[in-house]
Amino acid sequence: MPDLFDLPGVAVALAGTRFAHNLQYLPSVGSTNVLALEAAQSGAAHGSVWIADEQTAGRGRSDHKWHSPAGDGLYVSVLLRPKMALADALWLSLGTALAVQTAIATVTNLAPDIRWPNDLLIGSRKCGGILVETSAVASQPDAPAMLRYVVIGVGINVNQQSFPPELQALATSLRHESGRKWAREPILIEFLRALDKEIASLGAELHGASIEAGLLERFAAASSWIRGKHVSVDEAGGYTGVTDGLDARGFLRVAGDDGTLHTVLSGGVRAK
Ligand code: BTN
Repeated sequence: MPDLFDLPGVAVALAGTRFAHNLQYLPSVGSTNVLALEAAQSGAAHGSVWIADEQTAGRGRSDHKWHSPAGDGLYVSVLLRPKMALADALWLSLGTALAVQTAIATVTNLAPDIRWPNDLLIGSRKCGGILVETSAVASQPDAPAMLRYVVIGVGINVNQQSFPPELQALATSLRHESGRKWAREPILIEFLRALDKEIASLGAELHGASIEAGLLERFAAASSWIRGKHVSVDEAGGYTGVTDGLDARGFLRVAGDDGTLHTVLSGGVRAK
């Protein structure tokens, strides 16, 4: 018998957050992100959340698939309608990664690292990933594009005991790392509580988002990848170098082995 997901219990535990009244659970779906994007087009509310027991076409970054077997993982998408420039959407990625890290650490006592911008790693293997998909519009041709909505998709490998051959060297699960099974609901609750605080601190609903003093510092403190890590970067034709902090907007700086200071815009950072 598959574990039944306690959605009412999650809703009670989230009372007072922007997510408490907008939770939907699906036994099986292609992708919770696709579902959320479609719902956003049809007017779904800020703070809506979709959780699936299984995804048959889970989406990862860079057109990868996200392995999403029934019962083993947490697959969740959150729809937000923040007052925020598209150019600042990275802040949501960084805040979400911190929220996932907090949730895993609080529930399991494991200490995942964050590979900029938003991969959750234990050792060298990934236990969680985040896919942020946006829709934006400019009010005038020269105006900055503003977000119409953003879907934040989070996948956490909770109880997987094995992975397909192509993922074995890359992926791990909380169960594999801790030697025990975990209920998914407490991790989801801690994640959504932490995300609720991150969104509040960005001020994304009331007055338009501004980078909260401390987000970048908290991120740099939470990730071993921000300073002094020798990396290869799969961007701008590919290069190698040593990470050299975040710039004022949250992008990763890399002092290239070629003597150039690079700014990484979209990810593709790997240990060298
Ligand atoms: C990554 O490649 O690291 C991002 C993975 C994101 C996976 C999650 S699972 C829930 C949501 N729905 C999807 O189809 N993808 C995201």
